[in-house]
Amino acid sequence: MQKWIVSILMLLSLQLHAQEPTKMQWFADAKLGIFIHWGIYAVDGTSESWAFYNKRVPYGTYMNQIKGFTAANYNPTAWANLIAASGAKYAVITTKHHDGVALWNTKQNKLSIPLQSPAAKDVLAPFVSALRQKQIKFGAYYSLLDWSHPDYTGFTKDSSRYKAATDTIRWKRFQTFYKGQLNELIDQYKPDLFWFDGDWEQDANTWDAAGIRKMILAKNPKAILNGRLQGFGDYDTPEQNFPVSRPLQPYWELCLTTNDNWGFRFIDSNFKTPYQIISIFADCIGMGGNLLLDIGPKADGSIPKEQENILKELGNWNNKHEEAVFSSIAGLPAGHFYGPSTLSKDSQNLYLFLTNTNATACYLKGLQNKILKAEVLGTDQTIAPTVVGKISWSQVPGLLYFNIPVALQDKYVTVLKLQLEGPLKLYRGKGGL
Ligand code: GLC
Repeated sequence: MQKWIVSILMLLSLQLHAQEPTKMQWFADAKLGIFIHWGIYAVDGTSESWAFYNKRVPYGTYMNQIKGFTAANYNPTAWANLIAASGAKYAVITTKHHDGVALWNTKQNKLSIPLQSPAAKDVLAPFVSALRQKQIKFGAYYSLLDWSHPDYTGFTKDSSRYKAATDTIRWKRFQTFYKGQLNELIDQYKPDLFWFDGDWEQDANTWDAAGIRKMILAKNPKAILNGRLQGFGDYDTPEQNFPVSRPLQPYWELCLTTNDNWGFRFIDSNFKTPYQIISIFADCIGMGGNLLLDIGPKADGSIPKEQENILKELGNWNNKHEEAVFSSIAGLPAGHFYGPSTLSKDSQNLYLFLTNTNATACYLKGLQNKILKAEVLGTDQTIAPTVVGKISWSQVPGLLYFNIPVALQDKYVTVLKLQLEGPLKLYRGKGGL
């Protein structure tokens, strides 16, 4: 099928399933989530699950890492505190990645941290309760595909066990397995959000994606499902690659690593700077999306210092710019301002994000409202714009130039708040008279 036909079909089905806008409200307001990839791959610092799939290490060597997963310094309260400090309103943790190792005490098989690792306990439960104490929503990442399970079809990049269509009894057994695990998660941890992954190896029918959705919503009608369920999710999940134009889906979330890997790796010190993370975050919310920012704790449960620092810096910036970020809605359409922007829900406040470091000036095109007040957010200082090029007898508004004194600039991204007279009104024409 043509790629564009597939995209349109996916779009239709996503919109079809995202019909409950009220259930999506907390997600739309949340803006920031923290993604956690924690698993046995952190022991040797291999890539999460893909290390054996891509045959970088033999399967046995990879799985042997479970013997080094101590969680000795695991402090779920400290994790939840750090997440809260970042300003995030939800967290998504890998309850089971493609390697099949469950963080909780699953009864569906024996491949779990509590049963096989020296940590010897359910490491999911205390994290979920620490999140709830902080009023942070809990998202369960769950890999549908399971390269370790003897009844799953795939194993490594060049060897598979069988095809679902040719051995339906075996596939049914696998279905019973993952539905069993999902039911455990639903019943024991009541996730607010399910973050599926690995759906690409089977089609919707084979996964029984409709059945999975039904099963989850029957027990918790408010649960939100990400878009990796072959068209049966509630929102879109671009990964790493930043959308250039505003996604058409009403709800979306960019998942992004803080360095180049999802899980902890000794070799990866290519961390993004707080400035880069903050400007990417501003860009996401300006386009009406969320950022799901990943951290990869070590096998002992400690969080790499660089990631801790990024979350804290992001949190300080969020605190200062709270009203421009949380509960805002997408900002101006492209062309009015060269940077991200957001609006208050009544669209009477416009927030302009100056993502160019050391920007002392910026301008805004096509604003028809009168500005009641313009200020640098978090400073109490007002700024008077200079109106440039306004022809007195024309309907076309002039350009508004703002000069921001260096002393008022934020160390990462400065935010200008414009209080408008009435809801936002834009001139969208081609100029002329
Ligand atoms: C991809 C990868 C997986 C990672 C996920 C995060 O699907 O397969 O390893 O966990 O992206 O979005």
